[in-house]
Amino acid sequence: MRETILKEMVKILNGNEVAKHVKTQIKEEVDKLVGKFGRQPHLGAVLVGENGASKTYVNNKIKDCKEVGFKSSLVRLPDTISEEELLQEIDKLNNEDGLDGFIVQLPLPKHINQEKIIMSINPDKDVDGFHPQNFGKMALDMEAFLPATPYGILCLLEHYKIPTKGKHCVIIGRSRIVGKPMSILMGRKAYPGDCTVTLTHSGTENIEQYTKNADIVITALGNPNFLKSSMIKDGAIIIDVGITRVDDSSKPKGYSLAGDVDYEDVKDKASYITPVPGGVGPMTRAMLLKNTMLAYKNSFK
Ligand code: GUN
Repeated sequence: MRETILKEMVKILNGNEVAKHVKTQIKEEVDKLVGKFGRQPHLGAVLVGENGASKTYVNNKIKDCKEVGFKSSLVRLPDTISEEELLQEIDKLNNEDGLDGFIVQLPLPKHINQEKIIMSINPDKDVDGFHPQNFGKMALDMEAFLPATPYGILCLLEHYKIPTKGKHCVIIGRSRIVGKPMSILMGRKAYPGDCTVTLTHSGTENIEQYTKNADIVITALGNPNFLKSSMIKDGAIIIDVGITRVDDSSKPKGYSLAGDVDYEDVKDKASYITPVPGGVGPMTRAMLLKNTMLAYKNSFK
């Protein structure tokens, strides 16, 4: 008798769809609160220089603001700006009445000290959650602006009701924006969280020994197609934060976007996976709006 083995299909964690849902909720809340508070939430962005990816990110953030009824403003500065001048611009935003939050798009030109710039942002307006005060509060389970990408991943796990308690979560990459905060959040006594966390990075030897044992793998490397099916266990949950522009002459823009995960190779072994694009990216954008909403409400407290 022939035995049929029915293999469960991988489930897509659809960031576009969940982000749309989050934005609809925000829009409804804005519509209510504008009447009560007499003004819209307002997000600012500082863009230094002409980096193509940064320009796209900032333009998308402005588009998102329009969509949910936020006011937005963009401060564009040349990459020749001095650190002192940039600090003065930030000081103006720190003190601008009715500006609830702002972001300074990274990376900054090499002659500018990124840490110094981040430290100069008023923590109450730091909707990126990059200031050490917000990072520290996050680490101690106090209310804070959570960095948008890790926050977006939590929201995605929650939306799909993925169990995380007691699971082994392996994170690849220890950046201040993704890997490091993600490792803290997945280890918190909370849902999503309560994981046993392994934070791997460029100094990790034989990374497969960790990824093969992971229930959840979160990659934030920027190394296209790095994660292969041979590196994961059956039924693993795969979250791909990588989004790298790779030359592709068949595309109108001359590039396509590649994740850290070899999607075609991994999809038949994983239980859940985030696509690139359309997975983590839209969630990051939606969480920036959530943080701005929080800053807006806090400003009336
Ligand atoms: N560069 C890459 N990601 C981010 C982000 O989330 N915020 C800012 N400000 N810059 C970035």
